[in-house]
Amino acid sequence: MEANRLIDMLLEHPGQYISGEEISRRLSISRTAVWKQIAKLREEGYEFESAPRRGYRLTRQPDKLSQVSLLHALQGNRMFGKKLKLLESTPSTQEEVRKLAEEGAPHGTLVLAEEQTAGRGRQGRRWYSPPGKGVWMSLLLRPERQPLSIAPQLTLLAAVAVCRAVRKVAGVDAGIKWPNDIMVDGRKLCGIIVESVAEDELIRYAVAGIGIDVNLEAKDIPEELKSIATSLSLESGRRIDRMALIGVVLKEMEQLYELYTQEGFGPVGHLWEALSVTLGREVSVHTPNGVLKGMATGLDASGALILDQNGKHFTIFSGEVQLGG
Ligand code: BTN
Repeated sequence: MEANRLIDMLLEHPGQYISGEEISRRLSISRTAVWKQIAKLREEGYEFESAPRRGYRLTRQPDKLSQVSLLHALQGNRMFGKKLKLLESTPSTQEEVRKLAEEGAPHGTLVLAEEQTAGRGRQGRRWYSPPGKGVWMSLLLRPERQPLSIAPQLTLLAAVAVCRAVRKVAGVDAGIKWPNDIMVDGRKLCGIIVESVAEDELIRYAVAGIGIDVNLEAKDIPEELKSIATSLSLESGRRIDRMALIGVVLKEMEQLYELYTQEGFGPVGHLWEALSVTLGREVSVHTPNGVLKGMATGLDASGALILDQNGKHFTIFSGEVQLGG
């Protein structure tokens, strides 16, 4: 894929001109072929400045998710995102990955969509996924011989990865609300859902779905969500490069997953605790068995939340946390 290599070359030297001659030499293609590749990339939405004798300089990458830029952003990864499917519109990327998983797709397979028409949230809720403004993606995980009971740990791992990535890329002060909502200043920025398929109590595969509100403006957020949702651009005051963000999320995911397979949940749990906005706070937890109030004190070894109610400890495996008791 010459277009990929050309973009890689231009991105290696941000803001600098590279001559047509150098491109042609490094890619071993003719000057006419260089010109054709530039034209093809322009059609995809890339913008270049060209100057006689100086060559080409990349001035803008398209805001559309593109295979070329994604592959560039995912270069450092061994597995996560190496098999990639990019869709314009789909009901839910979760379903797409599930289909690929049943067809035998490898660990780390990624599906991304510009828009989801029936995005799935936790507890049967819808996930609003408008076109071109967010990161709506699902990643296939194939843990080896792991019981279904570890699935919540995968959710916490994904939350750590996304939280670290949005802090790095957008510089926002994001934290994690148990188990996996990424929050800034009390508003939700990202939701994560992990759906597992098991056989004989062992995970056959899990699909980690990540929805990040990236470049939604205030007008893009539905009225009923305005008091509880936010976006990276609203919080950082600038447009965020979705492709760069995806690259960092997947890099974090891959590194944390490796740490997890080598050392178990302990280190990932500590990272989660350090990023938590839940611990040390009075909270109300809406569980399937009713509402529990108390002080959130930590995670147990499985990733469940420990709640202290006047010295009495409760372990909570699933529920919706409301900060502030
Ligand atoms: C939540 O309720 O907080 C979880 C939201 C998860 C949304 C993501 S967007 C990509 C993937 N596809 C879906 O249908 N849902 C997840």
